[in-house]
Amino acid sequence: MRAALAAVALLFCASAAQAAALPELTGPQSDYVEHCSGCHGMQGNSAPAEIPVLRDRVGYFLCTRQGRDYLIRLPNVAYSAITDNQELADMMNFVVFGLGGNSAPKGAKPFTAPEVARLRRKALATQSLIAARADVVAKLGGGCAVPESMKFFYDGQQQAAR
Ligand code: HEC
Repeated sequence: MRAALAAVALLFCASAAQAAALPELTGPQSDYVEHCSGCHGMQGNSAPAEIPVLRDRVGYFLCTRQGRDYLIRLPNVAYSAITDNQELADMMNFVVFGLGGNSAPKGAKPFTAPEVARLRRKALATQSLIAARADVVAKLGGGCAVPESMKFFYDGQQQAAR
């Protein structure tokens, strides 16, 4: 009896510890984990892989209309297996305002389902993404304090050979 009780207590502790280690994810967070984190990292930080860091940076793209559109027109986003436009909008809002930290300009509006529906039909399918990104980043300036490092995929990449 005592052994059985101990076993039950042990089980209980194990499952409590497991629950503590696995915080509940929101829908958009688990969509990100499933569809994007394999390349961009759980926290949006993929450096030094040749994949852009999203963490504390991706919101700068909302400084211009072109940058905003670019985020949804990216092939991995436009062609996402997430077919529901509201669901994709919610996930991208988590990406830019959550992972992006304070990088989004003040007052930037969240993506909406109709906007996502319209833009994903114009996926950047044929052009060079590197060139498209360079053009977007060159025009970001304006009212936004965009760091120089946005020219690169992550902070400190200036030193890398590219
Ligand atoms: C197979 C790996 C892979 C997956 C999966 C992936 N991406 Fe990417 N992503 C990349 C690469 C590589 C680039 C750089 C492309 C380029 O040159 O602009 C990129 C670029 C981006 C950018 C532009 C950032 C910048 O600084 O230019 C964003 C935003 C982005 N991805 C978001 C996502 C989201 C959201 C998902 C999930 C729906 C996703 N990605 C899935 C590899 C991936």
